[in-house]
Amino acid sequence: MVPLTLLFLIVTSGLAVAKKDSKRGLTFPSTNNPEDVLNINQTQSVISWIYDWALSPPSYLINTNVEYVPMQWGAGNIENLASAVKNQSAKTLLTFNEPDFNQQSNLDATYAAELWQKYIEPLKDEGVRLGGPAITSSSTGLPWLREFMTACGNCSVDFLTVHWYGEGTAGFYDYLWSLHGQYPNHTVWVTEYADTAGNATDVLQFINQTTTYMETLDWIERYAWFGYNVCQLHLFIASTHSLSETGERHVL
Ligand SMILES: *[C@@H]1O[C@H](CO)[C@@H](O)[C@H](O)[C@H]1NC(C)=O
Ligand SMILES: *[C@@H]1O[C@H](CO)[C@@H](O)[C@H](O)[C@H]1NC(C)=O
Ligand SMILES: *[C@@H]1O[C@H](CO)[C@@H](O)[C@H](O)[C@H]1NC(C)=O
Ligand SMILES: *[C@@H]1O[C@H](CO)[C@@H](O)[C@H](O)[C@H]1NC(C)=O
Ligand SMILES: *[C@@H]1O[C@H](CO)[C@@H](O)[C@H](O)[C@H]1NC(C)=O
Ligand SMILES: *[C@@H]1O[C@H](CO)[C@@H](O)[C@H](O)[C@H]1NC(C)=O
Repeated sequence: MVPLTLLFLIVTSGLAVAKKDSKRGLTFPSTNNPEDVLNINQTQSVISWIYDWALSPPSYLINTNVEYVPMQWGAGNIENLASAVKNQSAKTLLTFNEPDFNQQSNLDATYAAELWQKYIEPLKDEGVRLGGPAITSSSTGLPWLREFMTACGNCSVDFLTVHWYGEGTAGFYDYLWSLHGQYPNHTVWVTEYADTAGNATDVLQFINQTTTYMETLDWIERYAWFGYNVCQLHLFIASTHSLSETGERHVL
């Protein structure tokens, strides 16, 4: 039996822990300064998940209370995918980063579908939820996704994944709704997004309005602001490597 005083301690210390927001996450590269990641007070932060475009978590993230989501970035090393996923008992997988963009994973949609059938689909039987390729918000994004979904007709794409950059909420909402209009039966993860205005007032308003709005949409499953990893990019981190006001709005 747990002594009453100990129970009391457990309950009261529990009160200091912020309620995790199951939708809200962060992106950062594993080459980044660990202290940038650790600057998030994990006790206070509402962030519930993190990804870094890689397959295995950096050591300083292991055993934190933040879920690491592995990603199969492109075709490279895909033969190691199954063992990496199994090794960390991952429940969810992200796939192909910006395959419609020639400076990112740059994959032909039919080839991506073949890779999916051979290496990704088998993970479904292991109970892993599979995220669709992460398209950009440029004009190549949605056409690439349509081609992929046709080529991969029998694939278990459990949710769709998109990125968005621009200025102001209107274009962001239009993009999300046009995706939802085409795939009303899929939930969506926004795995990179930012207001690129570079004006602190506008960016703060954007992050405030979009996070509030995405919390209300049941088909938006998760979202992650981009720019946590780079000092001052999209105003997430101040030059001192501590959180900016924008950063605080996202993680606290
Ligand atoms: C993190 O937040 C908790 C709860 O507010 C606080 O007790 C703790 O001192 C903070 N840790 C750091 C390193 O700031
Ligand atoms: C499993 O994960 C641990 C920790 O990241 C790593 O050291 C090890 O090499 C991994 N093993 C395999 C087979 O991937
Ligand atoms: C899915 O479709 C591909 C291509 O037509 C085929 O090779 C594969 O066997 C199918 N898989 C399942 C599980 O039906
Ligand atoms: C969505 O699911 C419904 C109900 O299963 C189905 O009738 C409809 O065709 C689906 N829509 C698309 C675009 O797949
Ligand atoms: C930010 O841009 C808005 C117009 O979009 C302008 O009204 C405001 O003064 C700017 N703020 C700063 C701090 O530059
Ligand atoms: C948005 O701003 C309002 C007013 O400052 C604040 O009360 C609210 O918590 C903010 N919402 C988010 C999601 O940051």
